[in-house]
Amino acid sequence: MLLGDLLSVQMTRDAARLRALMRLIQRFRRIVPVFGTWVLGNAQVREVFERDTELRFGAPSDTKMKLGPFILGMDDSPQYRRQKEELRRALRSGEGGLQQVAREVCEEVAAELANELRPGREVDLLARYVDPVVTRFSSRFYGVPFDDAHGKAVGSELLDLEAGEQVLGGWLRVLGAIIVSGTPAPFGLEEVADAAAEEFLAHLKEVAAREAPPPGVIARLGQQGELEPSEIASSVGGLMLAGRTVGRSFLFMLHQLLRRPDQRDRAAGLARGGTDVERDELLGYVLEALRFQPPFAFLPRYAARATTLATGTEEETRVGANRKVLISPMAAMLDPLVFDQPDDFNPYRERELYLHYATGRHVCLGDWIANGVLTEMAVALLREPTIGSAEPGVFRYRGPIVSSYRLAGGKGAP
Ligand code: HEM
Repeated sequence: MLLGDLLSVQMTRDAARLRALMRLIQRFRRIVPVFGTWVLGNAQVREVFERDTELRFGAPSDTKMKLGPFILGMDDSPQYRRQKEELRRALRSGEGGLQQVAREVCEEVAAELANELRPGREVDLLARYVDPVVTRFSSRFYGVPFDDAHGKAVGSELLDLEAGEQVLGGWLRVLGAIIVSGTPAPFGLEEVADAAAEEFLAHLKEVAAREAPPPGVIARLGQQGELEPSEIASSVGGLMLAGRTVGRSFLFMLHQLLRRPDQRDRAAGLARGGTDVERDELLGYVLEALRFQPPFAFLPRYAARATTLATGTEEETRVGANRKVLISPMAAMLDPLVFDQPDDFNPYRERELYLHYATGRHVCLGDWIANGVLTEMAVALLREPTIGSAEPGVFRYRGPIVSSYRLAGGKGAP
């Protein structure tokens, strides 16, 4: 792992310290060419996002897309455009049902969790809320069931998991871990991920090939008839993996809200109200809380050829061919040139300013899905009196991956 990667992983774990450091550096420089090139200014981060052909998403030898070609790792090409358009179409035609699926899943998992919530009692929200919500939502929204064509529950020999929900969760966990780990991945993770990808792809292909797959994105892609079955399997797996970011984002968002009791109480009030207007207002809290701890403090880019950033400005910086550039959406959202009073929590900022979902050609395809699911997750959980009044919990990490978020239930309503 490069020193730059290591630094970025370590720093991401302490959001408050990282924010302070970024704000300090921004007073002097917005591009820092030390141990790689760190891009911290809003205009400069946007510039890198926009110049996607020179500053590429993937390293030339990137082998992390274990499920096969998927738009997330592709450069611009006719194949990329075709796939992105087809996926956008299949996702968008599920827009009407999104809120219902998300709401159902969140309420279901929150109800299961409610039995465990007591003032002062500890619970791991990753294992008990976030993972089940993300897995069940993926299964229902994409139309990938936990059973095979004969109704037999799918298991995983490799991960030694019981059949059903756990298996889908396990595949997504291992394949997600490989994407964020360095190259080569440590502790045999590479082999485990290869085998998980094989199992997962076989299941996706089997579902895509069914005469009547369950309703969802996979079935709609089949009806559209533009992508080959193997492309459908790789793409739906890729979408489900990309969507796992929702889980990490939810925990970071919640943590930042719980650190601010006034904001937490207002957000919990909106959750209890639960009208469409209040849900939309709550989304403002979600996006703003994520500004203080976004899921991607840094995103990597590689210079396809030698180039210059911020040409003609004080920040002008040369980047050599094949060199890595780390851009920081987090720093960009703390930049006082664009975010007025960046240290203040303001849930009513213009939403277009946020860079959680990137910008430019590779802008997130699922921003509206993520916003919808995050809102429903927040509504169902913050309504619970012991969570709506809780103190912040404690994160544990395995490498760059969050492995638990334990918090103690608050006192609840007085
Ligand atoms: C809070 C949750 C999410 C966040 C913060 C997020 C953020 C991002 C970011 C920053 C990028 C650009 C990456 C880069 O340029 O380096 C991206 C790309 C992408 N995201 Fe998301 N995402 C989230 C959820 C989702 C979901 C639910 C989906 C499912 C549809 C999704 C699908 C994608 C896809 C397909 C791309 C690649 C687009 C392309 O390369 O053209 N994301 N996302």
